[in-house]
Formats: sequence, structure tokens, C-alpha cells
Amino acid sequence: MILRSAFVLLGILGQHADAKPRYDQRSDIESATSRALASRQVDRDNSTRPCGYLFDEVKASLDADLYPIFWAGDVYRCLVTVPFLNDVGLRFIEYYNTTLQFQSTLAYLQNPTPEYQQPAIDVVSELGRVKQKILDNQYQRQLDFEYDIHSIVLAMHDSHVTLSFGITAPFVFASPFDIVSASVDGKALPQPFLKEQIVRARNSDWVLQLSPIVTINGFPAVEYLTRFAKQNSFGNLEDHADWNDLFEHPANDIQGFYGTWGGQTLFYPGASLEDDGIIVKLANGTSYNFRWLALLNELVNPGPLETAGDFYNYFVLGLEPASMQDSDDDDDDSDDFGFDFDNLKQINLTDQENIWVYESDGAYPKANISQKDLAVTGGGVVTGYFQEDIGILSLPSFYQFPDEAKEFSATVQKFITEAEKRKLKKIIIDIQQNRGGTVALAFDTFRRFFPEEPDNLPWSWAGSRRRSHPLGDLLGTEITNFWNELDQDDDDKWDEAANEFVISPRIDARNNQTFGNWAKYSPSTSSHYRGDHWSNVERYPLFDDQFLYSAFSSEAVEDDPYGHGHNKINTSQIWKADEIVLLTDGLCSSACSVFANMMAQAGVRSIVAGGRPETGPMQGVAGSRGARAYSAGILDWLMRFVKQELNPNSTLIPNIPPDFETRDSGIWVHHAAFNLRDEILKPDFDANPDGQHLPRQFQYEAAHCRIFYTIKNIYNMTQLWSDVAKAAWTNPGICVADSIGYADLPNQPASSIPPSRLPIHTSGIISTKSSVNNTDETVPIFNEGDIVAGTAPKIEKLVECKANRTCEIKGWRCEDIPVADTCKTGERPKFSSVAYCLPPCRMSSTADSGTSCGKYSADKRGTSSLSCKARTMVETKEKARPQYIGCCQPRNIKASGSMCVKSP
Ligand SMILES: *[C@@H]1O[C@H](CO)[C@@H](O)[C@H](O)[C@H]1NC(C)=O
Ligand SMILES: *[C@@H]1O[C@H](CO)[C@@H](O)[C@H](O)[C@H]1NC(C)=O
Ligand SMILES: *[C@@H]1O[C@H](CO)[C@@H](O)[C@H](O)[C@H]1NC(C)=O
Ligand SMILES: *[C@@H]1O[C@H](CO)[C@@H](O)[C@H](O)[C@H]1NC(C)=O
Ligand SMILES: *[C@@H]1O[C@H](CO)[C@@H](O)[C@H](O)[C@H]1NC(C)=O
Ligand SMILES: *[C@@H]1O[C@H](CO)[C@@H](O)[C@H](O)[C@H]1NC(C)=O
Ligand SMILES: *[C@@H]1O[C@H](CO)[C@@H](O)[C@H](O)[C@H]1NC(C)=O
Ligand SMILES: *[C@@H]1O[C@H](CO)[C@@H](O)[C@H](O)[C@H]1NC(C)=O
Repeated sequence: MILRSAFVLLGILGQHADAKPRYDQRSDIESATSRALASRQVDRDNSTRPCGYLFDEVKASLDADLYPIFWAGDVYRCLVTVPFLNDVGLRFIEYYNTTLQFQSTLAYLQNPTPEYQQPAIDVVSELGRVKQKILDNQYQRQLDFEYDIHSIVLAMHDSHVTLSFGITAPFVFASPFDIVSASVDGKALPQPFLKEQIVRARNSDWVLQLSPIVTINGFPAVEYLTRFAKQNSFGNLEDHADWNDLFEHPANDIQGFYGTWGGQTLFYPGASLEDDGIIVKLANGTSYNFRWLALLNELVNPGPLETAGDFYNYFVLGLEPASMQDSDDDDDDSDDFGFDFDNLKQINLTDQENIWVYESDGAYPKANISQKDLAVTGGGVVTGYFQEDIGILSLPSFYQFPDEAKEFSATVQKFITEAEKRKLKKIIIDIQQNRGGTVALAFDTFRRFFPEEPDNLPWSWAGSRRRSHPLGDLLGTEITNFWNELDQDDDDKWDEAANEFVISPRIDARNNQTFGNWAKYSPSTSSHYRGDHWSNVERYPLFDDQFLYSAFSSEAVEDDPYGHGHNKINTSQIWKADEIVLLTDGLCSSACSVFANMMAQAGVRSIVAGGRPETGPMQGVAGSRGARAYSAGILDWLMRFVKQELNPNSTLIPNIPPDFETRDSGIWVHHAAFNLRDEILKPDFDANPDGQHLPRQFQYEAAHCRIFYTIKNIYNMTQLWSDVAKAAWTNPGICVADSIGYADLPNQPASSIPPSRLPIHTSGIISTKSSVNNTDETVPIFNEGDIVAGTAPKIEKLVECKANRTCEIKGWRCEDIPVADTCKTGERPKFSSVAYCLPPCRMSSTADSGTSCGKYSADKRGTSSLSCKARTMVETKEKARPQYIGCCQPRNIKASGSMCVKSP
């Protein structure tokens, strides 16, 4: 196994859970199919033990340094044999329902505004419906239950709401070929094409003829893909964004992500157990006969999992087989994780820009400016390009660790300085595929373009509020009181200043004073409308050292977002708002949504690309517009803290079973997240500070102009940017028919009213849970005696390394981890380090913290979670693939020495 790139970091600062890792790079149909076939060469018995068979395959593949790829039907054959136990399912419903009480949008999802483009869903009653099905003994298979829960999650269309649990966590389904949707000339409606043929045609200077996909499994291609998108798309506010989310895109390639179709398909896409085929017919008559694939979502060899019962214990209950626990101490067993970390070689990145050119099949040109450590899957993400009279700043992500964040903003500044020197008057900020990240970078980047706006313009606003409910109010009251009573010198005072349940330092939007206590924020007489209760509107204190330190790891002047805290403005505005445009694809989410909104409030227009094959407007920001993604794991820790330390007699907090550190989730939860706060726009608030506020999530925000991707620009960013410049400044006629006039500008309201909700596509053509027969295929081959009653996994403590920097457990590595210190008022902690033994990272299906490493706690108070931050490229025999690599990293550990510096 050869590692192609240097270790690179992927920022995971708690805002997001929606980045999707990709597992393999299949740019070529033949190679994908032959690879799938290669993994089939050992003919193991897959009929009598369908799950044991899969894990034999995993082991055989990893032993041969091949990434395991399966036929979709083989994975499905195992999944459907896993039985369902009512009691375990009921405990999960209890856990998940309690968790989702913190989701800010429940009332609006149930009864959305007319301009909200997705169907309504009553989340709590849907969970009640699933619960009733359990009580009526309607589930025989774990898979049917999990599919029902996932359907509810997907129907929330909020990329801050994520759930990876049970037997659906270890695998995803994937198409054996990549597709894109493009118009032949920018006017004609887009059609689906095999991506590979677009790239080949481009490389042949368009000598090779292109032929669009006309049918898939006998259905018209657009119809098939529409239903596929409807069923599998995750987290977007309208069909246009769901559509874009299906396909491959250069801005995904350079981050190592797949589209939903290419490698993130949740529901089994085959027609039946026996039929996982997919037949694609092109317009010129050529047709291809493929099979759906399945990919492993976890880079872990669970060892001797044999039966559906083992599978159940491991993935549903989170219990390891006894033989696997024993092997932890066994130095001879090198297969714990099927991955030899010490033998990995690192790539020599001497020409950093070229990695993006290479990874995007030549779609990106060589950059004029690029962030240090630019690499696929982490590290640097910012590049800048100067193309005739246009400057292009590419920001595909805001995910950055603190050190990278500094490089990120330095690179943005370098771009600005250089573009000014070149006297460029047209600036495109390309935020295609930007799913968010560190919100500080949204503030920072905005102010580098608009440094001179007075303080009372909307950019500094960022107002939000949350749902008021008894459990949330209890946590907020107890934790805020606890924090209020801490000494100014206490390290917790600094660490927890930005804790979501410490409200004291945050700003009350009504009077610009800090809240001080929870009751002022969420009084028992809190606003009541739409059948729910709401907190007051809060804003960040972006001048408060403790808050900045806690929220953004700001230790020094330059760590504060530009123009905030102590990081004073020392530049001036170079471009007027109408000399800048944002290029989006509707997938902009979270911190990206915050950024795009600040730009919009300043008068910057947006051009959106792609969308369904129909004319009309499209929204530029249709990922989550929520103000804060929050992890159920952190919530669990807070409940435990309050229950054990502050208010043991409270009956509101769920019980924590003896010997376990958090409440019982019933089913093993790999990762769960929700949206804690709604963004409330300033004009809405100003209109009536004490009245009703509509979350930005439920408003219609059209882009100023929409363009189609074309066969010439979908895999050629040079061409795309030049088309965008044309649409923005010289020839708005190239905008899609009826796409202009739906967006407003400051002091200039939109002339057209938003379209109302699209009709719902209902009939089920693609078979999944609903149309595949539940009762036919399988009788669970499972012995109830195998199942051990279980609860949530135990949380283990991290240990420091032995004196010679070795670790007890095979596969774990000794690493120096930054630790903070207790500092006095007027000082800020400076980081030092301690050597800890860390478990290796496992592949995870989301990029949020506490996902694949959430079982370990590094901090005696248990407030820190572990996360994988290193991702990199691994080269298999066929092709390079990105991988989580390295060790789970804890955050916010305390030191005992004296490592403090004077506050600036
Ligand atoms: C698994 O078994 C089925 C039915 O016997 C067979 O069609 C399929 O090819 C087998 N898969 C592999 C990978 O051997
Ligand atoms: C979910 O929790 C809410 C609030 O506590 C409760 O009213 C509802 O009955 C619960 N639903 C289920 C299915 O547990
Ligand atoms: C149809 O188009 C594809 C893609 O350009 C090409 O590979 C194939 O050979 C064509 N088939 C025929 C029959 O022309
Ligand atoms: C990296 O590449 C440079 C230039 O090609 C070369 O001098 C250097 O030895 C290489 N380093 C490694 C570790 O291969
Ligand atoms: C509070 O601050 C905002 C933004 O700076 C400003 O628009 C508003 O007028 C202020 N409100 C009060 C009551 O001072
Ligand atoms: C909790 O309840 C027990 C038993 O009623 C009582 O002894 C104890 O003082 C209570 N603790 C708190 C913090 O109220
Ligand atoms: C991309 O388009 C530009 C402008 O049409 C062209 O000059 C360039 O060669 C194209 N790039 C590739 C890789 O084909
Ligand atoms: C499901 O079962 C019904 C009745 O047994 C049968 O008629 C139907 O064809 C089956 N559907 C599929 C997709 O196998």
C-alpha cells in the first residue's frame, strides 16, 4: 500500500456533519467493473452465511492491500438477514426522540411556509408511527426499521441533521459509473452524460461524439434520476440542489467526495435480492450492463463476525465479539484494523497545484495563488486564479483546523492584494460544493472584502434563536449557572465560554447587552407561536476574549477573525459590491450559508449553476441555513454532567445505566447530529423584535441568475468561470429563461414572487424498502441466544504513552497532543503538549467530530471528544483513493504546567 500524500488535516470544528468522504476514484467504467470483478475472484460461499462471507471478503481484500468493493446484492443479502428486536428498537426511538427535541425547526417542518420547496413532515408523529409499528410487531428485519428512520431524517432536508447507526452504518451503495448533467449549448435543457465521455471528448478537442444517457433500467433517464434524487438526496432545501448533489463535480473531486449517485447511496438501489443490475442506454444505441456496487464505510476489520447474530451484536448493539476484545492485548495479531499504519509511505508533493489539476481530470487550471499544503481531502483549500480581466477565488470548503485557518485567511488576503495589483475589476468567489466548516472563516473572509462597513450593517448581525423546551432549559439553566460561578482564572471559564448552553456572554439582540442568565434568554413565558416556544434572539460576542478563545481557539491577535476581537482592520475596500459575484451550485450550507448571506446583505449578486432540467429560478444557498449543527454525542455528555454533577434529582434527564457514561441509545449510534439554532435575519428581527421570526431556512432565496452547466464547462473551470463572468457583467442573456428577478438587492426588492412548492414526486419506480417485498427473501438465520443485552458503548479513557513512547494496545500510536493551561485574568493560555496513546482512525461516513472515534474520552470531565482529522490518499493497484489515516485526536485537554501569555 502506498500513501500518496503527506498527512493533511481536515478541519472539524463542530459546525458540520455534512461533508462526505469518498472511497475510491472511479473515473473509468471498465476499470471500476474489472475491479469489482477482481474482488470476486475468491469464490466463497455467500449463501449459507451471507454476513460471514462479507467479512471474509473484507479481510481478504485488506490482506491483499485492495479496497473491498462488493456487489450491492451481496451486501443486501447480509443486511436483510439481521433480525429486529422490539425492545432495542423502542429504546432507540426514546433516545432519538429526546435528541430531536433540540432540533430547532420541528414546528416549521410540520407546517412550512408556501415558499419552502420540500414537503412538510411532522417528525415527532412520524417517530410515533414507527414506534407503533414496533408495538404492533411489524418489523422482522433491522434493515426495515433503519430504513424507516432514515426516511424521516432525509425528509427533514436539513444537512445539519445526520444519523449513522446500526447496520446501515458500515456500507454505502455506489454506482459503477459516474454521471454529470449538462446542456449541450447552455440553452437546451441539461441531459445526463457519462462523465468519462465528457472528459474524453474534451481531451479530444470535441472530436469524439457525445451521446447522452436516454434510459436507465428501461425508464427515461431523467425520470429515473429524479426519483433516485428524491429518495436518496440528503439535506437540501429544493429539488435543484438535490439534483446537483447526485452528480460528480470537479469541486467534489478535489475534496475527495462523491456525489450521492457515485458513492453515497443509502438505500439499496437494486430491484430485488437477485437483481442488482443497472442497464444504461445511450442515445446512439449503445448500452451498458452493470451491477450496483457496495462500498465499506468503516475502515475496520471486525474480525470474526460470522452470523447475522454477530453482525447484530457488533453493529446494532455496539458489542465486539469476545475473540476481538481478547486480541487487543495480543501482540501477534496485526489484523485489528486491517491496516498497517507504520508501513505507510508519504507522497512527495513538490508541485502542489498540480494535485488539483490531476484530481479533477484537468478541470481546474493551475492556480496562480494557493494555500499552503493544498491537497485533496484536507489541508489547504483556497486557490486563486487570474484569467484575463477576472480574478477567481475558489473556496470549496471552510473546514479548517486553527493552524490551517490562519493560512486560509492569509491566502484570501494574498489573492485580494494580488488582484488589486493587477487592477482587476471582476471578482468571482466560487463556493460550489462548499458545505461549510469554521464559521470564523465566514466572518474573516467577508471582512477582507468589506473591511469598511460600519458596525451596524447586517454583516455583523448573525442573529439566531433556538427551540425552548423543558430539557433544553434545564441544561441551559444548570450549565449557565455553573459557568457563572466559575472563577475568572478557572480554565473551564475559558474553555466553556462558547459552550452552547452557557448563554451569559452572548448578546441579547433586543438591547445589545449580554444575557447573563438563561432565564433572560429562554424565559418560562417564552414566545409562543406556531404551536411551539422560542428563545430570544442571540448574537455572538465577537469582541469577548473568552468567547473567541473558546469558539475559535483564538490565542493571539491574528487568530481572531479579521475585523473582530483584537484583529483590527488595516486594509480598505477594493471592489464595489457589484464588481463581485458568488458562484454557487445550491449546495452551499452552514458556514457557507452564513458567508453567502453576509455577502448578499452587502449587495453582492450570486450566480447559481446547474439544477434540474427545467427553466426557472434556483436558490443559491439550499444546504442547511441553520446557525449551528450540534452533535448528539456532546449533548449526551452535557446531560451526564448535569445529572451527575449538578442536578442528580432531575427527572427530566434520561437515566444513565450503571457502568455507562451516557444515556442509553438502544442501537449503536455511530454519529447523530441536529440543528440547534435557527438563523434569524436582521430585517426580520428589526421589523418586530418581540414578534414572530421566520427562520432563514424556510425563506426562498433565489440567486440573481441561473446558468446551466454545459458539456464544455462542467469539466473545465476556466470555461465555467468565463461563462459566469459573461452572465454577471456582459451578457445576462445567457441566464436560464425565467431565472432573473427573483432575488433582491439592498433597497431593491425582487420583482417576481417565489414559486410555491413543487408537486411531490411519489410513485416508486426504484425499488427499495417500500417496493421490495419484505417477507419473501429471507428467514433470519439467527439464534437469539447469540444476542447479549446491551446498551450504549462504554466510554474509555485515553492513557498517556509509556516512557519509551510506546502504547500497550497494538495499532495505537503515541502522539503529542496540545494541552491548554489554567491562566489568570488578562492572560491567554498557550498550548503545550502531552504524549497520549491514540486509537487509529476508522473510516467514517461524516466528517464531524466524535464520529468514528467517539468511544474515547481524553479528558476527565469528559467534555472532549475524539475525531479523525487526517485524511489522505492511498493508492491501490487500480487507482488512488482518499482515506482517513492517522489517529483519533482529542481536543481541549488540560495541562498542569504554567503556559500562559499576556492577552493582547
Ligand atoms: C453469491 O451467490 C449468488 C447466488 O448463489 C450468486 O449468483 C452470486 O454470484 C454469488 N456472489 C459471489 C460474489 O460469488
Ligand atoms: C417525543 O417526545 C415528546 C416530548 O417529550 C413527546 O411529547 C412525544 O410523545 C415523544 N414521542 C415519542 C414517539 O416518543
Ligand atoms: C455511442 O457513443 C459512445 C460515447 O461517445 C461511444 O463510445 C460509442 O461507441 C457510440 N456507439 C455507437 C454505436 O456509435
Ligand atoms: C521530493 O522531490 C524532490 C524534487 O523532485 C526530490 O529532490 C526529493 O528527494 C523528493 N523527496 C522524497 C522523499 O522523495
Ligand atoms: C444593537 O446592535 C445592532 C447591530 O449593531 C443595531 O442595529 C441595533 O440598533 C442595536 N440595538 C440597540 C437597542 O442598541
Ligand atoms: C436528591 O434527593 C435525595 C433524596 O430525596 C436528597 O437526599 C438529596 O438532597 C437531593 N439532592 C439534591 C441536590 O437536591
Ligand atoms: C478549457 O476551456 C478553455 C476556454 O475555452 C480552453 O482554452 C482550455 O483549453 C480548456 N481546458 C481543457 C483542459 O480542455
Ligand atoms: C411481492 O409479493 C407479491 C405477493 O407475494 C408478488 O405478487 C409481487 O410480485 C412481489 N413483488 C416483488 C417486487 O417481488
